[in-house]
Amino acid sequence: MPQTIVVLDFGSQYTQVIARRIREANVFSSVLPYNSKLSDIRKQSPVGIVLSGGPASVFAKDSPKPNPGIFKLGVPILGICYGLQLMGKMLGGEVKSSDRREYGRGTLTIERKGTLFSGLPTKLSVWNSHGDSLAKLPKGFRVLAKTENSSYAAIEDSKRKFFGLQFHPEVEHSEKGNIVIKNFLTKACGCKGDWDMGDFLKASIDQIRKVVGKERVILGLSGGVDSSVAAALIHQAIGDQLTCIFVDNGLLRLHEREQVKTLFKNHIPGKLRVAKAGSLFLRKLKGVKDPEKKRKIIGKTFIEVFDQEVSKLGKIDFLAQGTLYPDVIESVPVGGNPAALIKSHHNVGGLPKRMKLKLLEPLRELFKDEVRNLGRELGLPESVLMRHPFPGPGLGVRVVGDLSQTKLKVLREADHIFIEELFKHKLYHKLWQAFCVFLPVRSVGVMGDERTYENVICMRAVTSSDAMTADWAQLPDKFLRKVSNRIINEVKGANRVVYDISSKPPSTIEWE
Ligand code: XMP
Repeated sequence: MPQTIVVLDFGSQYTQVIARRIREANVFSSVLPYNSKLSDIRKQSPVGIVLSGGPASVFAKDSPKPNPGIFKLGVPILGICYGLQLMGKMLGGEVKSSDRREYGRGTLTIERKGTLFSGLPTKLSVWNSHGDSLAKLPKGFRVLAKTENSSYAAIEDSKRKFFGLQFHPEVEHSEKGNIVIKNFLTKACGCKGDWDMGDFLKASIDQIRKVVGKERVILGLSGGVDSSVAAALIHQAIGDQLTCIFVDNGLLRLHEREQVKTLFKNHIPGKLRVAKAGSLFLRKLKGVKDPEKKRKIIGKTFIEVFDQEVSKLGKIDFLAQGTLYPDVIESVPVGGNPAALIKSHHNVGGLPKRMKLKLLEPLRELFKDEVRNLGRELGLPESVLMRHPFPGPGLGVRVVGDLSQTKLKVLREADHIFIEELFKHKLYHKLWQAFCVFLPVRSVGVMGDERTYENVICMRAVTSSDAMTADWAQLPDKFLRKVSNRIINEVKGANRVVYDISSKPPSTIEWE
């Protein structure tokens, strides 16, 4: 068992970011609900505990509290934000509801370096988000640092190795926050920092085997990074107890179905079923122009086809999904049902209840770049791991307005040329996403001596770090000229190419 840090989750939106920072320091972490039994915490043999932040106030009637026994386990504890206030209150200090709330950036002035600030400068820019503040220190504690509005921004009981931070060291806006966390891990908890993705892979395989036992699992494969890594991982754990289903909805890119089959043949030698349902999707989408209606029809038809495929397989117990942490908005609600707060935008999220499938989501604690690393451990090719995101409704939302085979063909060919040239010019990996859009506009052109009246293709390329905001990419003129020439010369049905220079917000990345 690796040296483990238990993170108790009090519902902060950053709990998984804390876990990620710990993994980045090459230490294994396990996120448990705040109200976990002491025996469950002990089972992990933690070398340290982190109390996360959370939206509650320690004054609220049902404010979430951990088992007080954690303070007697003899392991170092770090309380962050709500975690600090909780620790302060439970150990005999005083918390007050502050009239000087602190949100956003602040300056941390370090008076004593203690364990946490060892090797750091005396002033740091940190990120705060709190209303309540600690007003009196519990016995045994001393102050390490202050901010403009908080006299107890960082505290330490060096004997018991208890620490509290009012700011959030885990977020990127907190300068050197990763080093503060690393100091806790190495200097307080004695972590060696020798854990890596290979260990995560071994532990995940054990866990999947334990959970699944002899039962059977299905997985909806899209060919993207997440579902491919999930498929390879689960296949390595349980072999042919896994069946993957790939639905060809007729809205895929050029050669995409073949690429998925090849990926399977070469890298995931498991069971793959391909449901060719393109004509069914197109029939259902005939004449539909409204983007929301299109999305709904595509989602519903996907489920019908998937369900039909599953029903051919006999008894299936688990539905596996490549859900990642950013896909999951999850928190431990104060006095509610955790499942109610879990949101997933995945395309197989709405399978019929009668199927009674249990969910298997082995990637749900990971961020995209971590999944890519896991994929590398599993031997998946870079061409799959570094592929741009592709929306579930596929080209269905990249042909603006109603769909037809002809429009899809024009779009596929144009998009293929754009992407091919991006690779040739070594630009593909500099972009978050790049693709073509088929516009419902025809324009006049002249080719040779003939007048043409054909379709307009739009090129879209954006830079982004998380798709929440995005900037249009300033691709070189020469490159744009080359792609435009190739599309107009090679794609029958396109006589004009435009480039989208809108950022998100106010536009979105996709057109529909
Ligand atoms: P927008 O267009 O909202 O897109 O700026 C943000 C990111 O999400 C992708 N996207 C989707 N992904 N199902 C998905 O799995 C969808 O319905 C969907 N719609 C948009 C989009 O490609 C971009 O990366």
